[in-house]
Parts: sequence; C-alpha cells; structure tokens
Amino acid sequence: MRSLTRITALGVFWATICTTAAKPVVLQYANVLQRSEQVKDSYDYVIVGGGTAGLTIADRLTEDGKYSVLVIEYCTLITDEVIAAGGGRNFNDPKTHYNITSIPQKDMNNRTQDVRIGCCVGGSSAINGMVMVRGTASEYNGWAELGGPESTWNWDGVLPYFKKAIHFTPPQDDVAAAFNITWDPNAWGQEPNTHIYATFPTYQTPNLIPMYKAMAKMPGMDIPIDGVGGNNGLFWNPTSLDPKKFWRSYSRTGHYDDITRPNYEVIVNNKVNKILFDGTTATGVQFTNRYDDDPTPVTVKANKEVIISAGTVHTPQILQLSGIGPKGLLESAKIPVVVDLPGVGQNFQDHAWLSVAYRWGNGQPPAPNVTLSGDPGTVAGPNVGAWIGLPAITNDFESIAARYEAQDPAAYLPANSDPTIVAGYAAFQKLHVKLLRSKNANFLWLPLRGSPGGIVMSMHVVSHGTINIDPANPNAEPIVDYRAFSNPIDMDIMVENINYMRKYMNSPDLAEYQAQEVFPGSNVTGEALKDWIRANNVPSNYHPIATASKKPLELGGVVDEHLKVHGTKRLSIADGSIMPLLPGANTQQTVYMLAEKAVDMIKARTQ
Ligand SMILES: Cc1cc2nc3c(=O)[nH]c(=O)nc-3n(C[C@H](O)[C@H](O)[C@H](O)COP(=O)(O)OP(=O)(O)OC[C@H]3O[C@@H](n4cnc5c(N)ncnc54)[C@H](O)[C@@H]3O)c2cc1C
Ligand SMILES: *[C@@H]1O[C@H](CO)[C@@H](O)[C@H](O)[C@H]1NC(C)=O
Ligand SMILES: *[C@@H]1O[C@H](CO)[C@@H](O)[C@H](O)[C@H]1NC(C)=O
Ligand SMILES: *[C@@H]1O[C@H](CO)[C@@H](O)[C@H](O)[C@H]1NC(C)=O
Ligand SMILES: *[C@@H]1O[C@H](CO)[C@@H](O)[C@H](O)[C@H]1NC(C)=O
Ligand SMILES: *[C@@H]1O[C@H](CO)[C@@H](O)[C@H](O)[C@H]1NC(C)=O
Repeated sequence: MRSLTRITALGVFWATICTTAAKPVVLQYANVLQRSEQVKDSYDYVIVGGGTAGLTIADRLTEDGKYSVLVIEYCTLITDEVIAAGGGRNFNDPKTHYNITSIPQKDMNNRTQDVRIGCCVGGSSAINGMVMVRGTASEYNGWAELGGPESTWNWDGVLPYFKKAIHFTPPQDDVAAAFNITWDPNAWGQEPNTHIYATFPTYQTPNLIPMYKAMAKMPGMDIPIDGVGGNNGLFWNPTSLDPKKFWRSYSRTGHYDDITRPNYEVIVNNKVNKILFDGTTATGVQFTNRYDDDPTPVTVKANKEVIISAGTVHTPQILQLSGIGPKGLLESAKIPVVVDLPGVGQNFQDHAWLSVAYRWGNGQPPAPNVTLSGDPGTVAGPNVGAWIGLPAITNDFESIAARYEAQDPAAYLPANSDPTIVAGYAAFQKLHVKLLRSKNANFLWLPLRGSPGGIVMSMHVVSHGTINIDPANPNAEPIVDYRAFSNPIDMDIMVENINYMRKYMNSPDLAEYQAQEVFPGSNVTGEALKDWIRANNVPSNYHPIATASKKPLELGGVVDEHLKVHGTKRLSIADGSIMPLLPGANTQQTVYMLAEKAVDMIKARTQ
C-alpha cells in the first residue's frame, strides 16, 4: 500500500510520496502557481491546458533555457494511488474527471454517453487505460492525403516523432519466453531524454496462450513482429508503465515531475476563458480562478505564440468563445466574430464498442503450466489483441465499401452543413473507401482475454459528430453529440465486427469447448442484432478527436499543416483535436507524437 501526500503549498514546493516498503520518494515540482498574482505579465509561449500534449510541449520548449513558458491548467495537481497504479480503475471519480454527458443519441434509443476526460495535471494521460499502440502506416498516410501534397504527416514523417516521444523497454525474459512476445527495436525509441515509458507488465495469464493460438489461425490473420511498425494483425502491445516502479507513466511524470526550470511555470485551478487578439493576431489569453466566487479576469501576454492544448472537448469551446468558429453559431451566442471558421467543433470522431458475453459450455482450453516470477498487479489494459482490416473481418467488405462510395457526401451530415465541411467529408469519404478495401487499416480491435468473449471495438466511424458551445449558455460545458449511427455504414460494420467474434468463438481450435453466447445470444441476428446494438453500443472509447482538424481551409480544416489556426497569426493547436481521421489505435501515443512534432514546427517558425 502506498500513502500519498496531497499537494497544498504555494509556489515551488516539494511533495513526498511515502511507501511502506521503500524509502520515501521525493518529487520536486516545477514552479506550480495557484494564484494569478504569481503570474508574470508575459511569457514567450502560453499553453492552454496542462494535459498530455500541453506538458509535453512545455517541457520540450523549455529544455534549452531559451524560451519562457506558462501552462494554464483548469484542474488540480494530484498524486494519488489511483493514478499511480493501473489503468481505468478510477473511471468516473469526480476528483479526476470532468462531468460531461452527451446529448441523447437518436440511433441509440436516445441513450446518452458519459464523456470521460481527465481533470488533473496530466489530463487524460493520468486516468487512461494505459494501452500503448499506434495506428497503421495507411492511416497516417491518410492524414497526409487529407492535408495535401506538401503534407509531412505521412508515416515516414510521423515515425521519427513516435520514436522520440516514447522510451521503450522490452518485457522481462520469462514473460517474453512464455508468451512469445516479440518486438521491433527499429520502430521504438530509447532516447535518454524521453521519460514517457512503454513496457510490459511482469505477468500475463497463461490462459491467453490457447486464445492467441486460436486467433492466429483465423483466415487472413497476419502476425507482425510488432504492431508499431506500420502493419496490423495479431500482436502484443506494451502498457504506459514506468519500467522500474511499474507505476503509470504519463505526461506529469514524464514532462513535469522533477523538472525545475525558472522558465517553466504551471498555474493550476485556473480556467482560460478566451484568447485575446489584436485584429487576427493572438496576443495572449484571459483566465480566471476556478474556485473564486466572483473571479477577476486576468490577462497574460504571449510574446511568440499561444498554443491551445485543452483537448478535443474544450479546444473548440475556447476557440468559439474567442470568436473563432462557425459564424452563425457565434452570432446566435452573441460572440463577436474574429474569424469565421466553419470547421471548429465539427468532424468529431471516436472509437465505438460493445461487450459480447460468452461462457464455455464444455470444459475450457487448457493453459500450459508456466511459472512466472512477476506480479499480476502490474497488468493494466490488454496487452495482446487482433487489429484487422475489413477484408479480414468479412467477405462482404466490397459491398460495404461500394455502398459507402455511392453515398452523397452531404446525405448524413448535419442539415445545412457549410460547403467546406461537405467538401472535407467528400475527401474523407474517398479516403475511407480505400481504407475499407485495405487489409492494413484497423476496422476492428478484438483484445484477447484468458476467457471467452469480450470487447468488440469499431476503430473507424464514418458518422461525424459535433462539439459546440450552447448558444444559450456558452460558458457552460459544450454540447457533445456523437451522432452515433447517423450514417448506417457504421451499423453495418458493427454487425460484421460482432459476427467476427462469433466466428472466432466457433473457430476450429475452440470448437470443442462449445462457447455459449450469453449476450446478445447466438439467435440474435439480422434486425434483432441491430436493435441490440442500438440498445447497447458505447459510442466512445474515450478517444475523441478531430474537432479542430488539421486540413486545408477549403476542406473544413481548423489548423494548417504547421498546426497554425487558419486565418490567425501566433495561434496554434496541438492536442487530440487536430487529428483529421482516427488512427485504428488508442490515441495516447499519437498525441505524444503530434506534440513532439508540434514542438519542432513551433521552434522553426519565423512568424
Ligand atoms: C478513460 C480514458 C481511457 C483511455 N484509455 C486509453 C488507452 O488505454 N490508451 C490510449 O492510447 N489512450 C487512451 N485514452 C485516450 C488518451 O488518454 C487521450 O487521447 C489523450 O490523453 C488526450 O490528450 P490531449 O492532450 O488531447 O488532452 P488531455 O490530456 O485531456 O488534456 C487537456 C487538458 O486541458 C485542460 N483544459 C481544458 N479546458 C481548459 C481551460 N479552459 N483552461 C485551462 N485548462 C483547460 C484539461 O483540464 C486537461 O488537463 C483514454 C482516455 C480516457 C479519458
Ligand atoms: C454532474 O452533473 C450533473 C448535472 O449536469 C449533476 O446532477 C451531478 O451531480 C454532477 N455530478 C458530480 C459528481 O458532480
Ligand atoms: C427519441 O426522442 C425523440 C425526441 O424526444 C422522439 O421523437 C423519439 O421517438 C425517441 N426515440 C426513441 C427510440 O425513444
Ligand atoms: C512462438 O513463435 C514461434 C515462431 O513464430 C512458433 O513456432 C511457436 O509455436 C510460438 N509459440 C507459442 C507459445 O505461441
Ligand atoms: C507446474 O509446474 C511446476 C513447476 O515446474 C510443478 O511444480 C507443478 O507440479 C506443475 N503443475 C502441473 C499441474 O503440471
Ligand atoms: C433468443 O433466445 C432466447 C432464449 O431462448 C429468447 O428469450 C429470445 O427471445 C430469442 N431472441 C430472438 C431474437 O430470437
């Protein structure tokens, strides 16, 4: 058991983390400010949000001492055992999460969705499921395709930043040997100055071995040496774990703890209300203390640039409150228009999932007798799974692709969408048709467990949602609408994904154990299965993206190839919101990558 001291002091301070087993570990924090009086008049860079991307950028921009940075974070600095330990155990804890619910989803029987995002220094990286994966080469090449011929966001252009962002440590020998875990050292980085870690738990359940062997025999299944090399199939993936302590490794531990630089300051418990402009040039931000009853707005200047890293849910809100967004929406909220930018808050995408329950009907697949020295408590998220393209999921892939290709791009978008949003969707559709026909785009993630059934995850959605301010109450939490299944193709793909689980459970290696489908039940097919999906689908795996997409202006983009907000100067965005297309992978590694790439772009600017 660990007991941890809460942080209360002002200014530069020290926090002691006590463990009963070991000597106290002393963390020294960078300049943590709590009151606006402690903030200087100006900094070279002001970063909005001390989350996954925000702290990565702050650390890298201050490394060589040339620039001063202020990070403004709405939430609190927390060091807590729920954060230190494994993933996803503190879902819904109001101490570390925002409290946001989507609007009712028409094609999900009007059910709503809990919009989970992290609220503490470190943002969502502090509370996530710790799965460390990347999308495929085709998916990042898709980002570049949407960006235009000059784009550097293709696979070759992102790979060096993936390697810089994460420090990989191979699994313990006995675990690697027992489970045949392989990895590609050329696709991972081990930079000494990188302290975001990926490694494997010291234990896995031996029951995974027969499940792995059965999956390996599924038709068309590839087995790449590692999933981070750009190709998909069945592979092992690490966890975002510190390789010595086996605690969560996240943006606070990697880009903030133990860093004391006079040029790196973070103010917590303060909310950025808006970006300040001189014409269309960003000059600074206005913020207020979260806990003051009648807070006085404070302003701070950015000499070089304001960087918004408030995450996919709040970045569009801050832009819209600052007068950057769809003109009609801003006018209805009585916000003066600085730049009419129709894409702000549009194009919203997330992974969607369902849990399909099974039990064995006749014994269970025998697990080999392996003796492991490690600790089952180090296991967080899943470490092995199948990540596959539509042609491997279903023989019907071509008819789905053809149906999607034949759609009018405006048909399933919100009514009266701006022509640039429709043009952007048309480009997305063209790209997606190729991905639907490609083996190397992940339409399904089926994480393996040591037991039958489990989660079926749709890794690409073609229904695009919105995250906009409420014109009647613009400063409240924004209105989140997944628009789940607004495009029927997503339903067709979810049906195929569930059918894939059924094929796997009945595959030759597992047939003898007579897996029984408990939920929805093997007799639930056709329209009944679609009804069941509408009643049970979860439209978010907490991987929201694309509300400030990196795309050309004429395709409804919000930032350009250098992450600068279209139509403005000295304003950029770097967080999950800039991804124009979901990677077929959980998103944290991609966020760390894009933050590292953003830093090089920001440093190279001449403005
Ligand atoms: C429950 C959950 C499980 C997940 N599981 C996984 C997983 O297993 N593997 C994986 O790869 N990914 C996972 N993810 C996704 C991944 O963690 C996120 O994609 C990533 O952390 C997002 O980074 P970000 O920088 O875009 O936003 P965040 O890290 O959320 O940072 C945004 C920051 O901005 C702050 N902020 C917002 N508004 C304001 C304002 N007005 N003023 C000041 N500050 C503000 C927020 O408080 C927050 O700290 C999960 C996410 C969640 C929520
Ligand atoms: C979350 O918000 C709802 C209203 O939007 C409120 O009823 C509820 O009490 C809040 N929950 C917490 C834990 O603050
Ligand atoms: C969902 O809500 C709308 C509007 O209130 C209503 O018209 C519709 O019938 C509801 N649908 C279901 C399935 O309950
Ligand atoms: C490990 O991999 C080798 C080579 O790919 C294969 O021959 C062997 O059967 C695998 N063993 C297990 C336990 O999966
Ligand atoms: C498993 O292996 C251990 C160590 O080699 C041995 O002591 C034990 O008897 C074995 N158990 C079975 C069920 O074979
Ligand atoms: C499936 O079978 C169960 C149990 O026999 C039954 O209750 C259910 O109505 C059936 N569902 C369908 C869609 O046939």
